[in-house]
Amino acid sequence: MNSFHRIFLLTFFTCCPGLPAQDAAIRLMPVPAQMAFSGQGFRLDESFTLKVSGVGADRLYSYATRVLRRLSGRTGLFFSQDFIRKSDSAGSASLMIKSKKEGQVLLGEDESYTLVVSDSVVILDAATDLGALRGLETLLQLLSVDGNGYFFPGVRIVDTPRFPWRGLLIDACRHFMPVEVVKRNLDAMAAVKLNVLHWHLSEDQGFRVESKVYPKLHELGSDGFYYAQAQIKDVVDYAEQRGIRVVPEFDVPGHATSWLVAYPELASAPGPYMVERKWGIFYPVLNPATEFTYTFLSRFFGEMAQLFPDPYFHIGGDEIEHEGGHEAKHWNENADIQAFMQKNGIADNAGLQAYFNRRVLEILTGFDKIMVGWDEILHEDIPRNIVIQSWRGRDSMTRAAQMGYRSLLSNGYYIDHISPTDFHYLNDPLPADLPLSEQERKNILGGEATMWAEFVSPETIDSRIWPRTAAIAERLWSPRSVTDVDDMYRRLEIISLQLEEHGLTHEKNYDMLLRRLAGGGDIAPLKTLVDVLEPVKVYTRGRQKAYTSHSPLTRVVDAARPDAKVARRFRKAVDRFLTSTASGDEAERRIVEYLSRWRDNHLRLQELIAVSPILAEIGSLSEDLSKISHLGLEAVSSISQQKKRPDSWVKQSLASVKQASKPRGQAELMVVAAMEKLIISAGSMQLQR
Ligand code: ACM
Repeated sequence: MNSFHRIFLLTFFTCCPGLPAQDAAIRLMPVPAQMAFSGQGFRLDESFTLKVSGVGADRLYSYATRVLRRLSGRTGLFFSQDFIRKSDSAGSASLMIKSKKEGQVLLGEDESYTLVVSDSVVILDAATDLGALRGLETLLQLLSVDGNGYFFPGVRIVDTPRFPWRGLLIDACRHFMPVEVVKRNLDAMAAVKLNVLHWHLSEDQGFRVESKVYPKLHELGSDGFYYAQAQIKDVVDYAEQRGIRVVPEFDVPGHATSWLVAYPELASAPGPYMVERKWGIFYPVLNPATEFTYTFLSRFFGEMAQLFPDPYFHIGGDEIEHEGGHEAKHWNENADIQAFMQKNGIADNAGLQAYFNRRVLEILTGFDKIMVGWDEILHEDIPRNIVIQSWRGRDSMTRAAQMGYRSLLSNGYYIDHISPTDFHYLNDPLPADLPLSEQERKNILGGEATMWAEFVSPETIDSRIWPRTAAIAERLWSPRSVTDVDDMYRRLEIISLQLEEHGLTHEKNYDMLLRRLAGGGDIAPLKTLVDVLEPVKVYTRGRQKAYTSHSPLTRVVDAARPDAKVARRFRKAVDRFLTSTASGDEAERRIVEYLSRWRDNHLRLQELIAVSPILAEIGSLSEDLSKISHLGLEAVSSISQQKKRPDSWVKQSLASVKQASKPRGQAELMVVAAMEKLIISAGSMQLQR
């Protein structure tokens, strides 16, 4: 229990006697900078009204209207107020929103707010209307329930973000993400106070924006999957309405095959080029030694600079020379490029990329844009007015900050790696012991979760982004001291369900995908297995099987979700069981319940597998789960009765566990390590109890 929980519980129980304990629990994510519960809460009924006063952009009125609808939707209350209008006369209301000025959707804009809930009124006060949007989301999350209905607990919140740049990258290239996917994710971002959509728009596998200046880019480089300029404007406006900046990324000079399909004269090696269908790092790269490249980029970036109003513009810059073998082959083999380097005293490919970056920087500066790039663009020769986004390690972020660059952290926020939520959550961009001066610390702008899209489709992308990204949002908004992992998971489950309000599919598509896999059969036994499976991690998936952009993303591995909740609960229960001294406790009962269900599941699932060939690949996983669950039950019984199992049993059981730990169908059982602990305990002379 951290300090704010203590304040909460102490004060809350005095203000609202009779509430069940779970209703008293704090459910905010991100946790506000300061919060104290006191006094009476505000009870909601159909007379609830909302009023906006002060100076705010039009977006505050439409946002407030949407909040009213969401509140109505959550409570079933028929509020009489229809729309919140600027023209509404002054006066009183249940919720009074005051904004002192219209906020600019720009880096560093004031997003702070104060929210006070008393028994008679809710007051939301913000320096800008963007702060008011953030405060409205906090208020919605505060909604609580007791035997008498819905209420907002009595609270005083003074809140402001820790970092000004809190982003989510969506890769719309590896798999195209239609506008509605982007929009529902923008809504979810606003719900957890993220404020930057980093939109990855060009890649080897696709060029995703309509260009009127160079139309062959989208005509030949996209397979027909691109955003029309009107759609881009629509998304940028949708984001702005939610206080979210849109930073486009056009990745150059590498990751650029799709450009070269249309304009091979930009390339460093002779074509022809085809839109890439595979995943990986590829040789095609723009030619930095010809003026044609810069003329082209100048015209194209000029067009895009108009389309994307944010001052920040991402040029990628990653993976030209890849550690572990990939060299800038097309540069090395091009005689003109080699001669150019010699003539200009450029010693190596890093220097050549720095030259290219300086030229691109000049172009972007001419359009009043600030250049952002991945950590590969960090080079002594680049002026300091660019932003470095660190992905290969956090060292580059620190080094960049020391060199005087502003920087962003994405290393540790690669949600496509399918790491558990707590791994991302505890990844602080600016830990207290980071060796940076006060001035250098100011260079750390924040961070971004990165949703690379090799292994997601519009059907599955939400389940890779959410709910884990809500925990990253908290890391980037809340004070450094907010690090209670158990409490994060408790709140995450609540927030995850609330996010469905925006049409996100991360929860509901799970059953939908399982239904399809079951081919009409009962999904219960399949769900029992997939509940404890996760996709293989980091880059393993693409290494185990040759994927293309048209491979199916509908298998068990795609239904399986990161940080499998049931498996996590089992692991926790095992830890509790092994450290507790009482026998027959709650943890033991839960473990036995899980293990019995898993032991018996295979028989039922087998029937389904027999009629659903798509499930054949996980048959042996199911069998292994059954087998090790049986062993787990034997272990629990031994531990409970203090009866040591013979070494031969331990040895054989551990061999079964090892077998069960092998991924099948690119998914892995997430209960194996806990099972191993039970078995080792059962065979140990030093039984805990
Ligand atoms: C990256 O993941 N190549 C930025």
